[in-house]
Amino acid sequence: MQIFIDTADTKELKAAFDTGLVDGCTTNPSLIAKAGRDFKEVIAEICEMTTGPVSAEVASTEADMMLKEGKRLAQIADNVVVKLPLTWAGLKTCKTLTEEGIKTNVTLCFTPNQAWLAAKAGATYISPFIGRLDDLGLDGMELIHDIRQIYDNYGYETKILAASIRSASHCIEAAKAGADVSTIPPKVFNALLNHVLTDKGLADFVKDWEGTGQTIL
Ligand code: G3P
Repeated sequence: MQIFIDTADTKELKAAFDTGLVDGCTTNPSLIAKAGRDFKEVIAEICEMTTGPVSAEVASTEADMMLKEGKRLAQIADNVVVKLPLTWAGLKTCKTLTEEGIKTNVTLCFTPNQAWLAAKAGATYISPFIGRLDDLGLDGMELIHDIRQIYDNYGYETKILAASIRSASHCIEAAKAGADVSTIPPKVFNALLNHVLTDKGLADFVKDWEGTGQTIL
C-alpha cells in the first residue's frame, strides 16, 4: 500500500519525504488554511519535493469554474492531481479532466455508490473518509471493503485512497481491506514506527554491546 502524507505543512512534509518511504501528498482547503500560506506557492513547493502525486483541491462548487481552476492547478507541475468534491459538478469536471489527461482525486466519499460514480467518471483516485464515518458511530472501514469489492468486480482502475485516517490501526485495517493508498497525517505517520518494546530492546542492545568493548569498524 502506498503512503501519502495528508498535510500542507512543508516542514512536516519534508521530514516525511526524507524517510524515503512516502509516495505522495494530499491537501485540502482546510489544510491550506491551517498552513496560512499562498495555495499555489505551497503546491509548487510540495511538487518540487517529490515526483509522486500531489493533490490540490478546487475551490469552486460550479462545474465551469471547477474546470478552469482544475486546469490552472494542473499547470503548476506534472505531478499535480486535481481534487474534486463528490457532487454532480465534481464528477462532470472529473470526466472532462480525465479525457484531457489530467489526473483527479474525487474526495468526500462516504458511500459505495458515490465511489462507483467516481470510477465511472474516470477518477484516478477515490478518497473515502474513514475517520469522519467513525465519528458518526458508523464503520468507515466497511466502506473501503465495499469499494474494493465493487472495483474488483468490474475492473475499475480508480485507486482507493483511504483518507481521514486518524490512527495507526486505521492504516493496518485499510491495508487489510485492500486500499491502494493511505493518506496519513504526519503525527500518525510518525506513530507507525513507534513501539515501546523497540525502544527498550534497542537501549538494551546498545548497553550490552558497549559492555563487550568491541567495535565493528
Ligand atoms: O484530506 C482529506 C482527509 O484526509 C481529511 O481528514 O481528519 O479532516 O477527517 P479529516
